[in-house]
Amino acid sequence: MKAFVALSICLVLFSCNALVSNALDTVTTNQSIRDGESLLSAGGTFELGFFSKGDPPKRYLGIWYKKIHMTIVWVANKAVPLADTSGNLTVTSGGSLILFDGNGSGIWSVNLPIPVLNPVAQLLDSGNLVVRDADGSDSNRTLWQSFDYPTDTFLAGMKLGWNRTSGFDRHLTSWKSIDDPSPGNFTYQLDRNGYPQFLLKQGSDIKYRSGPWNGLRWSGSPNLKPNPYYSFGFVLNEEEMYYHYELLNRSVISRMLLMPNGILQRSVWIDRTHDWTPYLTRPTDQCDNYASCGAHGSCKVDASPMCRCLKGFVPQFSQEWDILDWSNGCVRRNPLDCKKDIFVLYSSLKLPDTRTSRFNESMNLQECKVVCMKNCSCTAYSNLDIRNGGSGCLMWFGELIDIREFSDSGQEIYVRMAASESALLPSHQKKHEPVMGLAVSFGSVFLILVLLTICVLQCKKKNMELPEGDNPEDQEEDLELPLFDLSTIAIATNYFSTDNKVGEGGFGPVYKGVLMGGQEIAVKRLSMTSRQGLHEFKNEVRYVSKLQHRNLVKLLGCCIQEENLLIYEFMPNRSLDSFLFDPTRREQLDWSARFNIINGIARGILYLHQDSRLRIIHRDIKASNVLLDYEMNPKISDFGLAKSFTGNETQANTNRVVGTYGYMSPEYALDGVFSMKSDAFSYGVLVLETVSGKRNRGFHHPDHRQNLLGHAWRLFTEGRSVQLLDEVVKNSCSTSEALRSIHIGLLCVQRCPDDRPSMSAVVMMLGSDIELPHPKEPGFFNERNLLEESISQSQPNEITMTGLSGR
Ligand SMILES: *[C@@H]1O[C@H](CO)[C@@H](O)[C@H](O)[C@H]1NC(C)=O
Ligand SMILES: *[C@@H]1O[C@H](CO)[C@@H](O)[C@H](O)[C@H]1NC(C)=O
Ligand SMILES: *[C@@H]1O[C@H](CO)[C@@H](O)[C@H](O)[C@H]1NC(C)=O
Ligand SMILES: *[C@@H]1O[C@H](CO)[C@@H](O)[C@H](O)[C@H]1NC(C)=O
Ligand SMILES: *[C@@H]1O[C@H](CO)[C@@H](O)[C@H](O)[C@H]1NC(C)=O
Ligand SMILES: *[C@@H]1O[C@H](CO)[C@@H](O)[C@H](O)[C@H]1NC(C)=O
Ligand SMILES: *[C@@H]1O[C@H](CO)[C@@H](O)[C@H](O)[C@H]1NC(C)=O
Ligand SMILES: *[C@@H]1O[C@H](CO)[C@@H](O)[C@H](O)[C@H]1NC(C)=O
Ligand SMILES: *[C@@H]1O[C@H](CO)[C@@H](O)[C@H](O)[C@H]1NC(C)=O
Repeated sequence: MKAFVALSICLVLFSCNALVSNALDTVTTNQSIRDGESLLSAGGTFELGFFSKGDPPKRYLGIWYKKIHMTIVWVANKAVPLADTSGNLTVTSGGSLILFDGNGSGIWSVNLPIPVLNPVAQLLDSGNLVVRDADGSDSNRTLWQSFDYPTDTFLAGMKLGWNRTSGFDRHLTSWKSIDDPSPGNFTYQLDRNGYPQFLLKQGSDIKYRSGPWNGLRWSGSPNLKPNPYYSFGFVLNEEEMYYHYELLNRSVISRMLLMPNGILQRSVWIDRTHDWTPYLTRPTDQCDNYASCGAHGSCKVDASPMCRCLKGFVPQFSQEWDILDWSNGCVRRNPLDCKKDIFVLYSSLKLPDTRTSRFNESMNLQECKVVCMKNCSCTAYSNLDIRNGGSGCLMWFGELIDIREFSDSGQEIYVRMAASESALLPSHQKKHEPVMGLAVSFGSVFLILVLLTICVLQCKKKNMELPEGDNPEDQEEDLELPLFDLSTIAIATNYFSTDNKVGEGGFGPVYKGVLMGGQEIAVKRLSMTSRQGLHEFKNEVRYVSKLQHRNLVKLLGCCIQEENLLIYEFMPNRSLDSFLFDPTRREQLDWSARFNIINGIARGILYLHQDSRLRIIHRDIKASNVLLDYEMNPKISDFGLAKSFTGNETQANTNRVVGTYGYMSPEYALDGVFSMKSDAFSYGVLVLETVSGKRNRGFHHPDHRQNLLGHAWRLFTEGRSVQLLDEVVKNSCSTSEALRSIHIGLLCVQRCPDDRPSMSAVVMMLGSDIELPHPKEPGFFNERNLLEESISQSQPNEITMTGLSGR
């Protein structure tokens, strides 16, 4: 009853406030804002007032986006909520802003640095609440601002960092939970030790490090680029050091949020979809976890295993290292001697932790080297600023920690090594000989010189990259899959506890686990009763261990003891079908995410078919076998049914038809003939499902008895393909991309395998505007019932298989 009364008061007050406070953005001396009233910034972007969180509901004073339902950007009384709606915010003469509860006690207040007779508080259109002196000679001077006390949200115009003179610091603190704004365990703060960098911490544990600013971006964020939403920069001078960003366009809404689970996310509000679209997420992957490979280890997210020692370094404890416990890192193969050391270049990196660094903005790289060489405890140096060919000097003292390797936009660092490692220097590489031979045949000394220079430069670039054998293809043959100890995995999964179980595949359950080093894994446990499981198990181990592609799920290792286990990287977002066919989660996949998925799967299959040396047909491409990472990038999983081809063989026959209804091509389901074109068929089905948000199997339409393929074909021939689009993406959708995807999907599901495009053609068609051929009738669009009966009679046990994922 009480709650009901409170609620109705609340409702009444809220509706009043809409009428009353529309125009006001300022409270002046001796005035109050009562619960139910609010301030609205002049441009109408932000609102300040009271809101409820938690159960039972508690009241808070905060600022939110006016037009976005309950997106709070700032909270005043974070840890001291009001019990009811009797509070008010009062501006008092003498210079403070006080939040009173119903009993007249001040529970939160602002104290101005100087006494002011006539203070006013104003909510600006940037979301900043500022207090000024209405009387003073400089009435525009800000005496206090909410931007100096950020909560979990970094808004445009804020400074995230330090006033070096006063030691005043502004950083983000997560909420305790989504229902509780009191300070949580996570902070994102500019660290002032050495050359500054941001640290994301849980309590005092570092979880993620931005890396130092390199003039263009943070060293750990190569994908932070100029964009249509905001400009950004880092300011470092005598007085201040801070990060800031400005919106490029008043109509853009973008924020950076430190979520209660410790994930930092930049997102952009899209009016059309009425949704926050993630733009950057940190940590993004396992290599973003602080020091995931220990000292002098380098993390590469699409390598297996993901950690390697820098060239010239070896694991400190090789037994630990071999079971993927990388925490103790690597040590120099040959110890330093100080006087006679050399510096070896490593490229494409996120620069190591700079808390033990020193910097000088005016020195160049050569001076930097000289200074570093002189001090025996200086272990590495690099440019501070990478713009205009590089400038400034950054020197490390001590171990090099938290290094990762990027495929593009990484940085260069020179690491101190023993003189005996001089083989790592570029001049000792001998790879330019064939080029020299060619040059001599031209008979021109000049040409030799030119080619030599180019070669030296190239060798420097290519061969000094780390770690050795950078290209996974090169070392495919000798890639050994790490073998895990059963006890290690048992501990990681809490002895295969049911709490850790995340799904049930065709061959047994799947568990989530955490290795000693903190790495999250998914463990597929082959059920002992599974008849054909062992064969598929070995098959999967054989294939997946040799495959490395960003759109394929990564196998970390296996265990063949009393139990047969496969250990994979863990995919937090589970599988595509868990989004696509779920009435609420489907909305999280907007058009750009879906198009990214359509493209990523195509590239993954293309790699299987063509780019990997093995030439693999997956045979079970379907939505539940596509897993999604933190950023919704697709990764194909479950290679239990994959077949490899040797030489030029392109199709094969099998007497065991295995696969999944609704995705199987006619020639495979009926005659057991499979080829790359049967994967193309399954891919086509998946594309149409992704666009429409409907399952091919189980699709019903009031007008006809055809499946999704038949329906898509019907709409296509009538020029109404747009109607196939999932309602929830219609607004966010690029119509031309969507129509093109449907068209390509239909080309892939044509009845005759020869008519279907190869996956390389699919990738090309998706990425360009070339004209598409007209599709012929799809296979299996009418005959659903008939086919399912015929298969289920002949192959009762071998049809179903689900992926790694679960619910
Ligand atoms: C605010 O109230 C105080 C105390 O009642 C009074 O002295 C002062 O003049 C008032 N200020 C304004 C601007 O009304
Ligand atoms: C206000 O006073 C009443 C009665 O003393 C008490 O029950 C209540 O907890 C108080 N509220 C706050 C917010 O202190
Ligand atoms: C705000 O609360 C204080 C303390 O309870 C009270 O004295 C004051 O009258 C209130 N102001 C308004 C406008 O309700
Ligand atoms: C305050 O700012 C306004 C607008 O920028 C300007 O017109 C005014 O002169 C300023 N007042 C003072 C006292 O500086
Ligand atoms: C930094 O702090 C000092 C000392 O409090 C102050 O004088 C100065 O204005 C501040 N600088 C900025 C840019 O806020
Ligand atoms: C936050 O830290 C406290 C104390 O260290 C701990 O009890 C709690 O479990 C932590 N919460 C989360 C969500 O990690
Ligand atoms: C701001 O963005 C809107 C919508 O994206 C666009 O229509 C408008 O032209 C942009 N304005 C400027 C000045 O760039
Ligand atoms: C940076 O290096 C220059 C040139 O070597 C030197 O003059 C200057 O004092 C150095 N600055 C700092 C802050 O060490
Ligand atoms: C070397 O650098 C360290 C760290 O900055 C410093 O403490 C030490 O005094 C330096 N040693 C020499 C010989 O300059």
